[in-house]
Amino acid sequence: MKIAILSGDGIGPEITGQAVKVLNALGESFEMETADVGGAGYAAHGHPLPPATLALAKAADAVLFGAVGDFKYDNLERALRPEQAILGLRRELGLFANLRPAILYPELAGASTLKPEVVAGLDILIIRELTGDIYFGKPRGVRECPDGPFKGQREGFDTMRYAEGEIRRIAHVAFQTARKRGKRVTSVDKANVLETFQFWRDIVTSVHQEYQDVELEHMYVDNAAMQLVRAPKKFDVIVTGNMFGDILSDAAAMLTGSIGMLPSASLDANNKGLYEPSHGSAPDIAGKGVANPLATILSAAMMLRYSLDRAEQADRIENAVKAVLAQGLRTPDIFEEGMTRVGTEQMGDAVVRALA
Ligand code: NAI
Ligand code: MG
Repeated sequence: MKIAILSGDGIGPEITGQAVKVLNALGESFEMETADVGGAGYAAHGHPLPPATLALAKAADAVLFGAVGDFKYDNLERALRPEQAILGLRRELGLFANLRPAILYPELAGASTLKPEVVAGLDILIIRELTGDIYFGKPRGVRECPDGPFKGQREGFDTMRYAEGEIRRIAHVAFQTARKRGKRVTSVDKANVLETFQFWRDIVTSVHQEYQDVELEHMYVDNAAMQLVRAPKKFDVIVTGNMFGDILSDAAAMLTGSIGMLPSASLDANNKGLYEPSHGSAPDIAGKGVANPLATILSAAMMLRYSLDRAEQADRIENAVKAVLAQGLRTPDIFEEGMTRVGTEQMGDAVVRALA
């Protein structure tokens, strides 16, 4: 099994280093190879996604990604900005399914802005489609408005599109993933108003025929937004389009109140994937040794589960993370009175010890 380690910018190298340490402690013989990406790619090779980095990512069974971006690259032209690396990797690797868990460990229930009884023990997974929807549909632009009360004025317009195959493959990911969890899928759409999402609903329903052991529910996006803050624990797997997923996954992430804890995965059709923390490169704390490495360590666990067929090793890591939280160890971002404050390195070491 070959893993590409792309640690990137800011806190990327610090947090990825801890995840590598944890992977090495599992007693498996993974082949890990590192390459420059993002601002680090630009600084060393003049491009955020250098050819050698892309080649490594393509050759590997999975990619563990830190984060990219730094204000010092803000004046570069768009094609050379660090963030282009992640878009390029998604495109070149054919990653279409973005899995974002929102998990709130009971020990951290105080970090949420919602009442502990509403969110303690939350464990939901949002699956966002990444390639279609109004973000990429053509035509788009600004034109002269052809009709209605504003006829003749300028108007902005975009096109919402989803191809049948695009919906089918994300629906399969949702049902297959739900099978490994709570066996419930909520498909979120706006079928009452949008043709695209009535079509989405019909296709998801037809794919469901192959997964009768999984429960399927359809929900309008406005209601889903409401339920996410009212009774989020009712959900197991939520599957939705690119735009609704963008918004709902950020809202769901914030239910947990701790950005430093949330992993993510982006998968292709063969379960190859890119795994990264949900947060960015946090330039404000980079190099200080205080970043929370748990989101990246948990991303490595997702990698073991979804791409490397090592579910029991993923369980081991997730249990080790629970154990260090139960021991009261906290990086500054999740610190509370009475707990033990630790840095990035100490947190990584504690997870390694808890594996044993
Ligand atoms: P950010 O997630 O990097 O930081 C937001 C806040 O959360 C900061 O105060 C930061 O210190 C804190 N934070 C983030 N991760 C943390 C961790 N592991 N432990 C403790 N605290 C943590 O988002 P921001 O500030 O909007 O963006 C900073 C840079 O990151 C930008 O250049 C942005 O483009 C990039 N970015 C990259 C992403 C990626 O690589 N996939 C995703 C999001 C942003
Ligand atoms: Mg977003």
